Amino acid sequence: MNIGVLGAGQLGRMLALAGYPLANRFTFLDTTGHPSAGIGEVMIDTDRKHLDAFLAKVALVTYEFEHLPVSLVQAIEEVKPVFPSSEAIRICQNRAEEKALFDRLGIPTPAYRLVEHADELEAAARELGCPVVAKSVTEGYDGKGQAVLRDPAEAAEAWRSINHPRLIVEAFVDFVREVSIIAVRGREGEVVFYPMAENLHVDGILRYSLAPMPDLDDEVQQTAEGYIRTLLDELDYVGVLTLELFQTRDGRLLANEMAPRVHNSGHWTMDGAVTSQFENHLRAIQGLPLGDTSARQPTCMVNVIGQEGDPAAILAIHDAHLHRYDKSERPGRKLGHVNLLAKSHGELLEKVHACAWLLPEAPEPRFSFEDEFRQGN
Ligand SMILES: Nc1ncnc2c1ncn2[C@@H]1O[C@H](COP(=O)(O)OP(=O)(O)O)[C@@H](O)[C@H]1O
Ligand SMILES: [Mg+2]
Repeated sequence: MNIGVLGAGQLGRMLALAGYPLANRFTFLDTTGHPSAGIGEVMIDTDRKHLDAFLAKVALVTYEFEHLPVSLVQAIEEVKPVFPSSEAIRICQNRAEEKALFDRLGIPTPAYRLVEHADELEAAARELGCPVVAKSVTEGYDGKGQAVLRDPAEAAEAWRSINHPRLIVEAFVDFVREVSIIAVRGREGEVVFYPMAENLHVDGILRYSLAPMPDLDDEVQQTAEGYIRTLLDELDYVGVLTLELFQTRDGRLLANEMAPRVHNSGHWTMDGAVTSQFENHLRAIQGLPLGDTSARQPTCMVNVIGQEGDPAAILAIHDAHLHRYDKSERPGRKLGHVNLLAKSHGELLEKVHACAWLLPEAPEPRFSFEDEFRQGN
């Protein structure tokens, strides 16, 4: 089966790598003019003239990038099956829609306000109490289009710097850790969940994801599963969905945002789970049985950002798996990731520190449970 993918970056590349063993082929539609997938057939369509040719080649369509015009996805849906649907894209590309859906389904979130003017931003910051985070309602990713206000008086400057007609303003959550849950829903409505990951971000960019967490209560995993299941069922979703959450000091989970696709915080599954998120997405959209989501071993994903470091030195770490995206080095650019597996979390932490040391721009990894391990093991 030839699968059409909207977007042609590293997520598409990894989808294709997972699909070849299933005898899938891939045609990518790139609207940016800068595809990096480097695999399959890539059609560059910056002038929107190649859509018909693309659709003629593919049996069904999925995407690796949700910041697409909804009208485009709706038009494709008239011709070919699209998984997940245009409705999922419409909601997930807009933080206001997303939060409204969380509210409607009873999924807790940080307190928030929607604003359309610098004065309204200032009032919202006062009402919610600083610090607050202001985010453009659409188009943001990797922390872009955001500003933290330490004082309501910073509103005018934040408004100018984000430069967007509509913002969401959120109370700044004093979280214990950031976590995510990834789930997969098949065409018959069957759902499987991965163990949640702890995610470390620096300047809004994901640097490390670790799963399973050694100290996660079953109850918290089940709560997250309940939230994401409600979302999947509500959207009649097919494929991989990711929900990012904050875990607070009192053990509660607050939903941050969701992504209607395979996700950076799920790259650990490529080596650390029985079935990767990429394979499971492809299984779901083709109506195949979903694969086992259990973790094989404690696993940590380390993002390679900006500079590659020395691949040979990284590969010398036992049970280290390097995934390079074949992109050129540029500050802040995601170039690859390393999956590290270990028999215990103590050993895993040692490997993560060793790996970080080999990456020129890697920040100090600090997981929420580390002190426990320093003392205990
Ligand atoms: N309300 C908040 N409280 C505390 N930190 C936040 C909040 N919102 C976002 N952040 C931080 O900024 C990061 C990026 O924000 P997010 O909303 O996930 O946008 P993006 O689409 O860029 O990933 C989060 O992973 C988190 O570290
Ligand atoms: Mg995010």
